[in-house]
Amino acid sequence: MLYTFYRHKDPNLSFLQRDPHQPLITMTKKNLMKIFLGLTLFTMGYMIFITQEWSVEQLFRRKDWAMDTCFPNLSTDPFIPIQGSKTFVLNAFFEHRTYNMSLRLISIVWRPEKTIHHCLLCCQDRLFTSLAKRTIHHSHFRFPYGTGDFLCDIPEDCEPTYAGLVSEDFDPEHVTFVPILNRVPRESSFPANFTVCLSTMFGGYNNVLQFVQAMEMYHLLGAQRVVVYKTNCSRDMEEVLHYYEDEVGLVEVVPWPIDTHIKVSSSWLATKSPGDLHYYGQIPALNDCLYRNMYQTKYLLLHDPDEIILPVDNSTWGELLSTLEIKYGNKANFYFENNVFPIEETDESSRFNLSEWATIPGVNFLLHVLREPILKSHYKTGKLIINPRTVFEISVHGVKRQNSRTVEVSSHLGRLYHIRRRKNAKLKSRDLVRDEGLLRFAPQMIRKLLL
Ligand SMILES: *[C@@H]1O[C@H](CO)[C@@H](O)[C@H](O)[C@H]1NC(C)=O
Ligand SMILES: *[C@@H]1O[C@H](CO)[C@@H](O)[C@H](O)[C@H]1NC(C)=O
Ligand SMILES: *[C@@H]1O[C@H](CO)[C@@H](O)[C@H](O)[C@H]1NC(C)=O
Ligand SMILES: *[C@@H]1O[C@H](CO)[C@@H](O)[C@H](O)[C@H]1NC(C)=O
Ligand SMILES: *[C@@H]1O[C@H](CO)[C@@H](O)[C@H](O)[C@H]1NC(C)=O
Ligand SMILES: *[C@@H]1O[C@H](CO)[C@@H](O)[C@H](O)[C@H]1NC(C)=O
Repeated sequence: MLYTFYRHKDPNLSFLQRDPHQPLITMTKKNLMKIFLGLTLFTMGYMIFITQEWSVEQLFRRKDWAMDTCFPNLSTDPFIPIQGSKTFVLNAFFEHRTYNMSLRLISIVWRPEKTIHHCLLCCQDRLFTSLAKRTIHHSHFRFPYGTGDFLCDIPEDCEPTYAGLVSEDFDPEHVTFVPILNRVPRESSFPANFTVCLSTMFGGYNNVLQFVQAMEMYHLLGAQRVVVYKTNCSRDMEEVLHYYEDEVGLVEVVPWPIDTHIKVSSSWLATKSPGDLHYYGQIPALNDCLYRNMYQTKYLLLHDPDEIILPVDNSTWGELLSTLEIKYGNKANFYFENNVFPIEETDESSRFNLSEWATIPGVNFLLHVLREPILKSHYKTGKLIINPRTVFEISVHGVKRQNSRTVEVSSHLGRLYHIRRRKNAKLKSRDLVRDEGLLRFAPQMIRKLLL
């Protein structure tokens, strides 16, 4: 068994048991005892260190080492705790963009932790281990938990199907494996052209009208899939999700019960809402969505259901992206500046205050046409349309690691419409700018909703 092999001292190491104290006979008895004790402790510590390191290294090299059969224990929980570590693994992916194909495990990591991890790979009927190189993602907002990934080499003549992550201190009887995704890379002919990732729906989310309008708008604009990371929502919302999942086939719900594992913050700042992880795990959710859809979609949009990226002159994201591709090629990522439309400002004379919607809880996108002007100097809080194959690490408002570049799209071509609470409290109604960009799509959207 692996356990036995791993734990027990290898006979090759017995040379370490040589007595190291012989030259010390001239010392006094008391000092001698002290040194003897110290050296013994040191040697023991060193041996434990060597034994563990060496055993793991040997496992890595001993490619003929095999369990009878690799029966992986698969997880039913999307967050897989790692024994002897505070890490949670989400998913494993083939990483085709490294020099040799490798394995990347998207995870949530305790940033101060120094534990060494290894990948366990199920290759046909054998088990291999490979040292895991941990990268902590830049966007952690100073919470102790952050997003991380573990990169593992794949040994020669191993075609892994399942992978698990282990610390130095693991019990092989209880390793949980996950299937390795992104087996086949693609550079064209994607199952979808546009996929939207909506991160972390939580706190009994009940903004039904806005969500439904967003789904119809995304569909009109060209979305073929919308992935929703759901922690918790209202009963009504649950029904809406089922409808878009089962009847329309647009939405895919990913269960995200993160609050049962980690004390999460409901803010981006620990001072506003204490916890160990930023905003219900928004960053790991976005990165998970990025990797899952890397070869499933040509473009990926990452935003929230109160946001819509709209072309100014074009009618669909397809037309807009064709325009952008002519200018910037098909490898670039695109950033759209945030335009905030305060929900406190409603258009009283709006012809889109439909009686059919009066009883549906939530915000009506079409009643908010006044936006805050964008100041010369401001924080970048816009959102992205990315080519996921160029991105290694994603955050809320920007790409953090890529083998391409991010282009800031001109407001003459496209804008992010963000209908939310007032952001700049200093602005009065008369300071706001009328922008009816959304209304251009209203007739089509309403037709679909009232069908
Ligand atoms: C890639 O794999 C080959 C064959 O296994 C190996 O010889 C080489 O060192 C690897 N290169 C890198 C950069 O890992
Ligand atoms: C799989 O999980 C079950 C239940 O947790 C456990 O009893 C069993 O030993 C595990 N088997 C392996 C191969 O990890
Ligand atoms: C994606 O767009 C291209 C060009 O507009 C089209 O030919 C192709 O069929 C679309 N793919 C899907 C899956 O809809
Ligand atoms: C959903 O979250 C709300 C508010 O945080 C809470 O009151 C409710 O009990 C939760 N519901 C479920 C099913 O977890
Ligand atoms: C999209 O808009 C751009 C400029 O705004 C324009 O040049 C292009 O012809 C438009 N494409 C379509 C298909 O309308
Ligand atoms: C929309 O219509 C309802 C009645 O159906 C009314 O109570 C509400 O004030 C109207 N809202 C706006 C912004 O006009």
